[in-house]
Amino acid sequence: MPTTYRNYIGGEWVPAVSGRTFEDLNPADRSEVLGLFPRSDATDVDRAAGAAREAFRTWRLVPAPKRAEIVFRTGELLIRRKEELARLMTREMGKVLAEARGDVQEGIDTAYYMAGEGRRLFGHQVPCELPSKFGVAMRVPVGVVAAITPWNFPLAIPTWKLLPALVCGNTIVFKPAEDTPLLAHTFLEILLEAGLPKGVVNLVHGHGEEAGAALVRHPGVNLVSFTGSTEVGREVAKVCADTYKKVSLEMGGKNAILVMDDAALDLAVDGAVWGGFGTSGQRCTAASRVIVHDRVHEAFTEAFVERARRLRLGSGLDEKTDVGPVINETQLQRIHDYTEVGRREGAKVLIGGEIATEGELRKGFFYKPTIFDDVDPKMRVAREEIFGPSVAVLRARSLEDAIEICNNTHYGLSSAIYTRDIHRAFQAIQDIATGITYVNASTIGAEIQFPFGGVRQTGNGHREGGWTVLDIMTEWKTVYIDYSGKLQRAQIDV
Ligand code: UN1
Repeated sequence: MPTTYRNYIGGEWVPAVSGRTFEDLNPADRSEVLGLFPRSDATDVDRAAGAAREAFRTWRLVPAPKRAEIVFRTGELLIRRKEELARLMTREMGKVLAEARGDVQEGIDTAYYMAGEGRRLFGHQVPCELPSKFGVAMRVPVGVVAAITPWNFPLAIPTWKLLPALVCGNTIVFKPAEDTPLLAHTFLEILLEAGLPKGVVNLVHGHGEEAGAALVRHPGVNLVSFTGSTEVGREVAKVCADTYKKVSLEMGGKNAILVMDDAALDLAVDGAVWGGFGTSGQRCTAASRVIVHDRVHEAFTEAFVERARRLRLGSGLDEKTDVGPVINETQLQRIHDYTEVGRREGAKVLIGGEIATEGELRKGFFYKPTIFDDVDPKMRVAREEIFGPSVAVLRARSLEDAIEICNNTHYGLSSAIYTRDIHRAFQAIQDIATGITYVNASTIGAEIQFPFGGVRQTGNGHREGGWTVLDIMTEWKTVYIDYSGKLQRAQIDV
């Protein structure tokens, strides 16, 4: 019998009030059930939001350096348990072990970075126009934060949201993706071991349409920080507009690598393979388009296909595996449906294009690394996020042409250019409209101390990561102190 896990509300481990549960499966072997988790609804969410609201009264007054000590200890515990967490992540989410270790490392990096922020959280002291008057702008917590996280980075993304939220003095209702509840549960245990007081973080498991929707609607929530699909993000934003909540959205991508005719081709192929098929293409930063200069199109695609052919599909726990499973049956089918769409639209499938069913692969959700050629920018496989190991190769006549194709999508998260020409590199940096641009490196692998996010339908203007996440997790409060002892009127007594 698999273990039955619980929600964590107001310092207590509790089942969903309805008593319902859902299964957590290993995507490499669907017969392995990792646990049963509470299928929460509005009642559970209401209790969690109430507990968070109550805890906010005291947590906001704990000095930031003290709050940050808990975050620092979280980093220490993550280091100690890195290998165990990575293995658990591979079993629960499927990504290969090396990448799972990277995911945990991203959490450790975030913990250390944010722990230091406890003794910074800089505000601004600005001169006042009137004499004997002092002005300062300082950061104050937002209140109760709803953190809604995806399954593709089951540890890193929760740390991106929870750790800065905590340092800034907020309390949290955490609703992790229903595909990776066990990692969320384990992360919460670590936070508690690090010394987190009761009620400061409340964990509510369940489905987006039930628990997630109730959380976004809840009047006790002040800020929704959401990472997920663009479709769901739009719904989240609408509800937040109706209920006057601050909202930070991190959504889809259709990221392109531009390969110029002067590029180091082997390096560009390395980047396309890593960006397109790493994490089975399930990153919002994945290189799902490669825009290749006409003059090197043939040489590039030949080498790209050859490299894709050598990728080994399998369980991520096997160190020899290059590409693990995709997350679930629905995604597997969706990825394959896109292959059919691509074929119907006239794209040529150079390799892959099918669900893998050989031997052990039949037990899980495996899709063969797929490359489409002859892709027109108007085709759906060139425009829509597939979120799987499927890469569309497009052709360009020039750098300007490539940049135009690159920018001509609804998304704008990451991009990359391979060129040895500094002029072209800087032109791309200037003209590509994405939140992140790489030169001679792939579209994935952002570091946590930099702003992370994108333009157009990728985001709503916020940036997680770096110092910019603080603008999400705090409000600015401006304070004027008049020590003149008389009435002074700004803009008038000048
Ligand atoms: C995501 O896919 O949502 O830059 C996050 C990267 C990782 C984070 C990806 N550091 O690919």
